[in-house]
Amino acid sequence: MLMYSWMVWVEHAPERYDVSVKLLTGGKIDQIKTEIASRISPSDEVLDIGCGTGSLGIKCIERGARVCGMDISESMLKECRKNLERSGHGDQFTILKDSVTNLKKHFEPASLDVIVSTMVVGELSRHYLEHIFRECHDILKPGGKVLISDEVWPETPVARVLFQIVMGLMWVPQFAILRRAFFPIKDLKGIIAGAGFEIIEKKTWPMSSFQLIEGRKSSV
Ligand SMILES: C[S@@+](CC[C@H](N)C(=O)[O-])C[C@H]1O[C@@H](n2cnc3c(N)ncnc32)[C@H](O)[C@@H]1O
Repeated sequence: MLMYSWMVWVEHAPERYDVSVKLLTGGKIDQIKTEIASRISPSDEVLDIGCGTGSLGIKCIERGARVCGMDISESMLKECRKNLERSGHGDQFTILKDSVTNLKKHFEPASLDVIVSTMVVGELSRHYLEHIFRECHDILKPGGKVLISDEVWPETPVARVLFQIVMGLMWVPQFAILRRAFFPIKDLKGIIAGAGFEIIEKKTWPMSSFQLIEGRKSSV
């Protein structure tokens, strides 16, 4: 929740986004993106949903993949174009400006190897997430996978109580500044499994509410 409030704020200044998020997460988000990229194979066709400034997609390209980055925000995509130019990887990255709720409008069934995402799904309601992951399942090739990382509701009772206290304290200032309330995702794993994916791994980062879920579409 704290992360989202901060991120919505920095999304209004995309040129500061990468540095701000790195600072806020103590470098954890870079580790998560590196870990996701390490699970990409050369020649994979990858879709990054909510690609933002393109940093995850660029790491996937460095592994030999071709990437399509989809995002709804023109200002984030402007930064993405700058980063691609700097990295020299522009020709391996296609930019798609649209909402991730429209995946099937742009991708054929069974056309992608991997769908990745960091810090996006927490901005969407459960209803949209169920729809998005069903569409992800349709557009992935048999055996294709999703690698999704976000802030989730803590799973242990002690962590949940602490988290609720912090959320309670932050709710009023957060709403006053952003006019929006944020809640970490409950049961990200269940939502992804409910769309038809077999859950291969659920990794939780120590001392944080970040989780990475790897789900695989059946190969038959
Ligand atoms: C917190 S940023 C994360 C950016 C990037 N994934 C990263 O980890 O650095 C959230 C991104 O999701 C995008 N986003 C939010 N809702 C979206 C939607 N419905 N469709 C496409 N992009 C969306 C925002 O524009 C923003 O770039």
